[in-house]
Amino acid sequence: MAHSRPLLILIILGCLAIGAPAAAPSSKAEYLELRQDILDKVSGMAFDGSMSLTQIEATLDEKLRNARDDYIRTARHAHTFEPHKYFYEWDLEELHGSLLWKVMSSLPKGSALHLHSGSSGSVDWIVEEGIYMDGGHVYWEDDDLTRCIEPIGGQEVECGSSGTAAPLIKGTMAFYPSNVTVPKGFYCAKSLDSSSSSSRDSGSDFRKQLRSLLTSNESLKDMDSSQAWEFFNKIFVRVGPAMSFRPFYFSYLINTFQVHWDDNVQHIEIRSLVGTNGLGDLFDFSADGIRVYSGDDVVDTYRKALEQFQADVTPFFTMKLIISSLRVLDPETIEGDVQEAVDLFTRHRDLIIGFDLVAEEDPNHRTLDYLDVWMELLKHEERLGLELPLYFHDGESNDRNNTNMIDAVMLGSKRIGHGINSYFFPALFDQMREQGIVLEVNPISNQVLRYVDNLELHPVNGFLAEGINVVIAADDPGAFGYTGLSYDWWAALVAFQLDLRSLKQLCNNSLEFSGLEGEELEAARGRWQTGWDAWVERWDSELS
Ligand SMILES: *[C@@H]1O[C@H](CO)[C@@H](O)[C@H](O)[C@H]1NC(C)=O
Ligand SMILES: *[C@@H]1O[C@H](CO)[C@@H](O)[C@H](O)[C@H]1NC(C)=O
Ligand SMILES: *[C@@H]1O[C@H](CO)[C@@H](O)[C@H](O)[C@H]1NC(C)=O
Ligand SMILES: *[C@@H]1O[C@H](CO)[C@@H](O)[C@H](O)[C@H]1NC(C)=O
Ligand SMILES: [Zn+2]
Repeated sequence: MAHSRPLLILIILGCLAIGAPAAAPSSKAEYLELRQDILDKVSGMAFDGSMSLTQIEATLDEKLRNARDDYIRTARHAHTFEPHKYFYEWDLEELHGSLLWKVMSSLPKGSALHLHSGSSGSVDWIVEEGIYMDGGHVYWEDDDLTRCIEPIGGQEVECGSSGTAAPLIKGTMAFYPSNVTVPKGFYCAKSLDSSSSSSRDSGSDFRKQLRSLLTSNESLKDMDSSQAWEFFNKIFVRVGPAMSFRPFYFSYLINTFQVHWDDNVQHIEIRSLVGTNGLGDLFDFSADGIRVYSGDDVVDTYRKALEQFQADVTPFFTMKLIISSLRVLDPETIEGDVQEAVDLFTRHRDLIIGFDLVAEEDPNHRTLDYLDVWMELLKHEERLGLELPLYFHDGESNDRNNTNMIDAVMLGSKRIGHGINSYFFPALFDQMREQGIVLEVNPISNQVLRYVDNLELHPVNGFLAEGINVVIAADDPGAFGYTGLSYDWWAALVAFQLDLRSLKQLCNNSLEFSGLEGEELEAARGRWQTGWDAWVERWDSELS
């Protein structure tokens, strides 16, 4: 078998290059010429095939590729190539000191287009600052699945008495002012912190333990995706009640904006849970008890946080929301949530750009299970003369039986969250290219949640080569224990062996395929270009 292989490859290559059965190349020169034709065809087909570089960009491109390859060769030789390893085994200290990290963290990355409410900001901010806000408490006893609290108000309720009641697990955070009963097992965060032993350089035990309960870790390495999700969902149970407390969530949003801005991200889009039956509600304490914020008031909370950040820090930072419900809910509930999303969309066109369904795909409803809802939405849109753009979270799966990608494409999603398993459906690629559908790729998330192991083999490599539009995103950086986009961009650079042309195209995609429109988009382009030009100049002079 091994002997016949070179001949076979030769025949295939010949056909590819010329289209018809061709005579074997008669010389080495002819062979190499044909080979070059194929390489040219490959790069012409790729997602960045039409991107051009200025003269200085072309110079930097060569330097950047050299630096990238230096790292790859050295790290592979030493068996320390991070994309081969599980994220929690990366040597972050070494990474942070490296040249390529400085290059990538300073890169003006445009937008972060795939984030979720509740995991968009910094876990360190939560354990160092956020939880010490007035009234901050943590459930600090063993898990007790027989007891539950309602996220709104944080009071104990019978488990199962509502769809939102959450069991008490260690590390659950909630806010109680001094005039409110605190459920047994919750302790004031300040007292937990001061009573735990602390060593000066590594923070207190309480902070360390709480941080560990709020992030995924290396123990997920040996799990399958469904076990990893089980672990992961607990993090959201723990942060849920605190994230429902409006003053805390408001500060978390400000932190989210700050960490992205610090990471040279100028625009973010958050999938925000907002729906019927209290989904995504916020609350605050008032003179007559509890004030609940739903729908418009939740959107308004985002608006006020953004306005405060724009006034205090920078007018150039922008944000949009994708109203989201959960694919665990039944079609009737989703129907109501879509209706709510349409209403909110018509009232907040400056902030809301579309709709999505989130949560783990494989054990929950298929996108097709809601077909009646989508058909109703299309009719409703025709009546209203508007279109609620869809940003389906689909194809985050390796299950051969998961066909959600077909529906995400057929229903005309503007972008698709993940689309990892698109490789099962090459028949969709033409339509994806024609409709300009964009895949939001979250490399580290996919690895942490066990859809991909070695990042070099991430399926997006193939999609990029097929000319599918892609943006790089981070999904739930807070719950993964990091902030911003630099880890995912750095991983993409070295694992997918990107060059300056691809980086430039990915930055361009992140703004062109965002929900920004009109003057806002125009301003964002100008802002990005200024940052990019300065970055190109800086690294052209600093890299050799
Ligand atoms: C991972 O986090 C869990 C808490 O969620 C903790 O019990 C476990 O010890 C951690 N594992 C490692 C290896 O850090
Ligand atoms: C309880 O305290 C909160 C926060 O300090 C305050 O806003 C609220 O008015 C108080 N409620 C009552 C009933 O006194
Ligand atoms: C595949 O999906 C169909 C439709 O949901 C379901 O009936 C079938 O049981 C699934 N097969 C497997 C192996 O999960
Ligand atoms: C992206 O590229 C297109 C085509 O060159 C250009 O018109 C557009 O301004 C670019 N956008 C950004 C954000 O640079
Ligand atoms: Zn996601």
